[in-house]
Amino acid sequence: MKILVLNGPNLNMLGIREPDLYGSESFAALCRMIEKYGRTYGIETEQYQSNHEGDLVDKIQAAYGNTDGIVINPGAYTHTSIALLDALKAVSIPAVEVHISKVETREDFRQVSYVRAACEKTVTGHGIAGYTEAMDYLRERLK
Ligand code: DQA
Repeated sequence: MKILVLNGPNLNMLGIREPDLYGSESFAALCRMIEKYGRTYGIETEQYQSNHEGDLVDKIQAAYGNTDGIVINPGAYTHTSIALLDALKAVSIPAVEVHISKVETREDFRQVSYVRAACEKTVTGHGIAGYTEAMDYLRERLK
C-alpha cells in the first residue's frame, strides 16, 4: 500500500508560523512522524510539500496508477483551488483532507473547501495528529 502525503503553501513553516494555531512541532517533525507511521504499519509513504498550486496538481496527476491513497493539507489553496479539486477527481484516488487548525471556527473565508468534494473524509483541529488519523482511515479503507 502506498500513501502520498501532500502539504500545500506555508506548511513548511510549521513550528515557526502562528504556533498558537498550528503548534510548535516543526515541519521536519511532521515528516518524521509520517515516515515512522509508514514503517510501523508497513506502508510506503511519499511526502511532498509545495508553495505552488501547479506543482501540487502535477504531483496528484503523477500519483495516478501508482498510489493507493492521498492525505492532503492544501493550506490556503483549500479555500481557492478548483484545480486541486479537479486533479483529485481526475485521479480518483481515495483522499483525506487534513487541517491542523480547527478551520470551521476561524474566519469566514476559511469556511469554504473546494477539495472537500473530492475527499472521503476531513480531519480538522487535531494538530499534526490529524495526519495519522487520516492514514488510519486510509489503512482501514484500503485493506
Ligand atoms: C490549514 C488551514 C488553512 O486555512 C491555512 O491557510 C493553512 C493551514 C491548517 O492546516 O489548519 O495554511 O490548512
